[in-house]
Amino acid sequence: MAVNISRRTFLKDVSKGTLGLAAASVIGVPGALAEEAKPFEGKMQFAGTHNVRHITEDLLWLGASDQRIALFENVYPVPRGISYNAYLLLDEKTVLFDTVDRSVAGQFFENLTYGLQGRTLDYIVVHHLEPDHSAMIAEVVRRYPDVQIVCTELAATMLKNFQQIDVAQHGYTVSEGMGLNVGSHSFVFTMAPMVHWPEVMMTYDATTGTLFSADAFGTFGAIGGNLFADEVKFETEWIDDARRYYCNIVGKYGPQVQDVLAKAGTLEIRMVCPLHGPIWRENIGWFVGKYDQWSRYEPEEKSVLVVYGSIYGGTENAAALISTRLSMGGQFNVVTRDVSKTHVSELIAEAFRCSHIVLASATYNNEIFTPMKNFLGDLAAHNLQGRTYALIENGSWSPVAGAKMKAMMDAMPGMRQVGETVTIHSTPNEENYEQIVALAEAVLADLAGASESAPAVEEVAGERWKCTVCGYIHEGALPEDFKCPVCNVGPDKFERVE
Ligand code: FEO
Repeated sequence: MAVNISRRTFLKDVSKGTLGLAAASVIGVPGALAEEAKPFEGKMQFAGTHNVRHITEDLLWLGASDQRIALFENVYPVPRGISYNAYLLLDEKTVLFDTVDRSVAGQFFENLTYGLQGRTLDYIVVHHLEPDHSAMIAEVVRRYPDVQIVCTELAATMLKNFQQIDVAQHGYTVSEGMGLNVGSHSFVFTMAPMVHWPEVMMTYDATTGTLFSADAFGTFGAIGGNLFADEVKFETEWIDDARRYYCNIVGKYGPQVQDVLAKAGTLEIRMVCPLHGPIWRENIGWFVGKYDQWSRYEPEEKSVLVVYGSIYGGTENAAALISTRLSMGGQFNVVTRDVSKTHVSELIAEAFRCSHIVLASATYNNEIFTPMKNFLGDLAAHNLQGRTYALIENGSWSPVAGAKMKAMMDAMPGMRQVGETVTIHSTPNEENYEQIVALAEAVLADLAGASESAPAVEEVAGERWKCTVCGYIHEGALPEDFKCPVCNVGPDKFERVE
């Protein structure tokens, strides 16, 4: 059998000095990778309008972007499009890392044909079974019938469900710490459950220090020629889309992202190849730092997000007033958004970024104004925690939005109200004006005294159990009929942790 898979511990694997174990191990790209990668020499096999770029001499980007797509996952607006990255390694064996979404399949196969230059495909490593990366696996197998699929056991089950492919007939399943040698490159596979689905794994190329990171370290936004993060103005022009991507796609799974970061911290990572967006070969630590902050639910900035839900303008007036007073008080980066007109994915991302959130809502059907209620539900679903909030409610005859918003916010871990809830009856009156000014001053005072970190989330003493499938942590005793709220497995899949 050609495949060379061996079970080794993650840290000991390929331990010929290729895996650096230093704590500060995320470093820049070495000279060999920083040099302009050489394209093929000699006469090339033409393969249509291929659009391949060399990352290194033997690693190619085969991906493509969809600029026409309106909603990624039919949920998230992507006005700048999105890229689907696939990679091809040309070693003694040829290895394809993932495929692409159906929308860019034509480009992908032209790229793959060109990249292989007449060679056959030996392996396809499947990091993630979501169809934006796996849609073309069946067609790859049809075109290269001897290809060996390498994926996790759960991915194999999903592949059968999605595409009726039996991995036992076409490849192998791998688990934490297993390796694969394809010539001069040695890979180690590491599991990354719930980043973003439970079957996700990553591949570390110990030969080059390249991490194929699946959805992690990806972003919304098409690749428009510039393939590397150091070729674009990522910190200013891409970061908002990267944050919106992270918070909405994997924001719920902070503990699982922390697990992955802990493992990555033991590796000498010189390059990160994600499934969406630019490749990272410089300043990797900066982006890893963002992931660390987001996954710990720490705000990036001491700043205020004001979100209002207004029907005829009274609540909007109150929101505008508090925003102005916050600015007059020295808070220069106030973000004020109409919940009815701002896509919730943007609100979620801003809530992750900001330390303080002001919520102003009309009462509607004896409830929180519907778009605001939906937003707060989405915040809870994304596991946001540790923020300070202030409330303004409106109701022409029976305002209830304030108490109901407070109940929803307080149900999220570590949330803390500042100031008194301001109650408006239709439009702000003179008394409301003074109350809103006082509320702005309370927020400003809290900002001035607030530490960089969010309010502490209470530690729960007692037993802790970790789901071995998705990494979910359960606090307290584990009942016999318990089901993991993330992946629905039973107590037999849980192990006790300290
Ligand atoms: Fe890009 Fe979770 O798929």
